[in-house]
Amino acid sequence: MPHDVTLIATFALGFALAFLFGYFANRLRLPPLVGYLLAGVVIGLYTPDFVASREIAGQLAEIGVILLMFGVGLHFSVEDLMAVRRIVFPGAIAQIVFATTIGTVLAVFWGWSLGGGIVLGLCLSVASTVVLLKSLEERSAIETLNGRIAVGWLIVEDLAMVLVLVLLPALAGALGGQVPDAGQGGAEHGVLLSLGLTLGKVAAFAAIVLLLGPRVLPWILRQVARTGSRELFTLAILALSVGIAFGSAELFGVSFALGAFFAGVVLNESDLSHKAATNSLPLQDAFAVLFFVSVGMLFDPSIIVREPLMLLAVLFLILFGKSLIALAVVMAMGYPASTALMVSAALAQIGEFSFILAGLGMSYGLLPPEGLSLILAGAILSITLNNLAFLSVERMNAWVRAGPQRKRVLEDARDGRIHALAAELEAVRARAQARAAAHRTISPEELVDRFPLFAQLNPEQREVVLLHFLPQSAQPGERIIRKGDKADAAYFLSSGEVEVSVGGRHIRLGPGSFFGEMALISGQPRSAHVTALDYCSMLRLTTSDFNEIMRRHPEIRSQVAALAAQRDAMNREPVTPPNAAG
Ligand code: CMP
Repeated sequence: MPHDVTLIATFALGFALAFLFGYFANRLRLPPLVGYLLAGVVIGLYTPDFVASREIAGQLAEIGVILLMFGVGLHFSVEDLMAVRRIVFPGAIAQIVFATTIGTVLAVFWGWSLGGGIVLGLCLSVASTVVLLKSLEERSAIETLNGRIAVGWLIVEDLAMVLVLVLLPALAGALGGQVPDAGQGGAEHGVLLSLGLTLGKVAAFAAIVLLLGPRVLPWILRQVARTGSRELFTLAILALSVGIAFGSAELFGVSFALGAFFAGVVLNESDLSHKAATNSLPLQDAFAVLFFVSVGMLFDPSIIVREPLMLLAVLFLILFGKSLIALAVVMAMGYPASTALMVSAALAQIGEFSFILAGLGMSYGLLPPEGLSLILAGAILSITLNNLAFLSVERMNAWVRAGPQRKRVLEDARDGRIHALAAELEAVRARAQARAAAHRTISPEELVDRFPLFAQLNPEQREVVLLHFLPQSAQPGERIIRKGDKADAAYFLSSGEVEVSVGGRHIRLGPGSFFGEMALISGQPRSAHVTALDYCSMLRLTTSDFNEIMRRHPEIRSQVAALAAQRDAMNREPVTPPNAAG
């Protein structure tokens, strides 16, 4: 195959087979993920010398990881995590330590180096957030308390793994691996120094992103969103996520994954995060598929016949070892069996971070090649079996609830802790909602409810219009517009009442009306005083934004202009005194 079409060939083959296998996996009621992995295995098997495509697939996979981590960051809420911190932090850390120890002992028993053992143990100790989210989604359990605990648990694992990924290069030498560029790197200065240097870089990077990010990134996105071009917005999301990921890797030596994660975290507080998530979703999906395909391509199926016992041991650790550890940890902390079982099922698989870590471990000569194959085989099998894990956990839950004695001891007696957590989570929710309400002006639906003028716009146009409005309030008696002033804005009244005073007339305007448009249209000074009669909330539109919206939506412009002309005509008529008719 000519070299220059490798990228296209990889895309074509990857997508086509992933689609086919994913579809059949779905028909067999397996997660499509299993299909993607198998598609990769098949491509790898039948194109053994297709090295270039493997390299390209690797890079495409990296983009997938960047977008996935960006998505995890976008959905990551520090407050939500903090609400469940009492269970997930000690729980996840204890579980990682136990599982890593078992994995390490196992590998050392096989004759691997200690470093290799630790890498294997770490790879097996964490589970895939992506797989968990998909499983919870299928069961509509993401928003349940146990679902949130399980997600929080895996997020703590992800954070721990990010730390491991960042520290591994600094520690590789000390663990008996080869450091590729030891000349300039850590080996000369000693492990502690390079460790400190790495941590310092991460801290500097996090500080810059977290301090500057919330000011700059949402602002950029807002400007782009106001153009109303979906294409530009998607492009902005891509440029920011991939750009920050790449830049952080180049400048600070921080991993792509970490950079992208932080970019997502910074954006998730902004009111545009939802739009960002929806716009980047199709890309995330596409590249995540390539990620799984390329993982499959690296898999060497001969491991099944070469090392069946090793594979069984790895699988046993993933499916039962980790789950039992988590079950014991959660029960020991005094939580009910249903929570413990949910976390167990969530953990009975391994995924993206294990592959990334295994790949890194191999590149530093810590993990033997069969380690990667074992981990891949373990992942493919455990992800395939994860559905079963959830089903058996549901059975066990039903079993616990069926016996009054069991239910009392394993569930009811342990209710206190979980109720406290639920209350805390509820409080976090309420706070977030209140904040969002204060932040947000109104929803696109409310916009149309209050201002029928905008009903002719499609939902996307409504959203763009909303981005131009600035919320403003006025106290009773406050003068909002002074006659004769130079105009700088128009106002849309969403609640309260105002009085327009012009040439002896007093006209009341209520919710749903707008004012301040006449001077903007005519270029003349303000034609009347406008005063708030009670507490008013308004949406303000500056001159340039007003002109912009009128230019973009001629239908609205003509309605606004018609009303302005009508008002003008009315103001020109002589005032008839109320008792003139006598
Ligand atoms: P503008 O001239 O910019 O500032 C004062 C606003 O009062 C004016 O725009 C209109 O929006 C509003 N206004 C003026 N005359 C009337 C009227 N007759 N009826 C309702 N609103 C008016």
